[in-house]
Amino acid sequence: MKLPPYLLFDAVTATEKAAIAAYSWVGLGDNVAADKAAVDAMRAALMQLDIAGTVVIGEGERDEAPMLFIGEEVGTGTLEIDIALDPLEGTGICANQGDNSFAVLAMAPKGAFLYAPDTYMEKIVVGPAVPKGAVSLENSVKENVAILAKAHGKQASELTVCVLERERHNQLIADLRDCGVRVKLIGDGDIFASIETARANGTIDMYMGSGGAPEGVLAASALRALDGDIQGKLIFRNDDEYARAEKTGIRDFDKIYSMNELAKGDEMIFCASAVTNGTMPGIAYDANGKVTVHTMVIDLASKSQRIICNSIV
Ligand code: FBP
Repeated sequence: MKLPPYLLFDAVTATEKAAIAAYSWVGLGDNVAADKAAVDAMRAALMQLDIAGTVVIGEGERDEAPMLFIGEEVGTGTLEIDIALDPLEGTGICANQGDNSFAVLAMAPKGAFLYAPDTYMEKIVVGPAVPKGAVSLENSVKENVAILAKAHGKQASELTVCVLERERHNQLIADLRDCGVRVKLIGDGDIFASIETARANGTIDMYMGSGGAPEGVLAASALRALDGDIQGKLIFRNDDEYARAEKTGIRDFDKIYSMNELAKGDEMIFCASAVTNGTMPGIAYDANGKVTVHTMVIDLASKSQRIICNSIV
């Protein structure tokens, strides 16, 4: 099924509205309020669309998320679309006025996205220079760094590997340092760290470590068009998380998912509107109340990536 071109504009409108709403909470220290503002705005925008959309990656399960929960249906039309979304990626970044918080949305024909449970996922992500499947979650850190260095024709010391700064990553960080690579530690936001590996002029050569599984699917939906690569393996910490995975149809708990299993098919669009500064300029108001929003738009069918700068009066 081909996605109609107007869907791209609809998706941009939804992330723009979520980003503008979240911006009201930038720097105010309230992650929950910032997230709620983004969720409310994105949901209102999606509800008006001429689609029969189903949220498959969302704010959580129905009992824990009142809006944009997994399974929620949005839109007024008949065009069946699956939606993966994160109305505010980097709630803490937004609340603390850090870099790179975004409103994120991906759309594709039904069944394109892995119905990932809200658990952690072990991830390894690289850009187009590395042959698909070459770096792997089955390799040691040393092997992956050697493959990365060969693919780029560089020394380890010329490579940057990004990791979320978490205690659970202490060993990974130590192993990376032993290999001699540069380690970029980030506080939050692994969708954008993943995209940065594959973006033209990106500043990260590889992203590694565990983060949200939903964020892994969203990253894959962008990386497909950018010719990057990602592998993901779900992590289960307790019976409840196994049960969540079973509910989404997952039977093989040890499976390593390839990029095309996380996000499959030939049609997929990905949009991310910047709330705070970072890869793109964040929301900015002028003296007359006109707001400028920057949105990264990635379209798999045309393999295009563009940044749209929109000024809204
Ligand atoms: P939120 O926007 O939900 O705060 O997520 C930010 C984030 O850093 C993600 O990018 C990442 O996948 C996840 O949190 C990591 O989870 P944790 O903070 O529990 O390590």
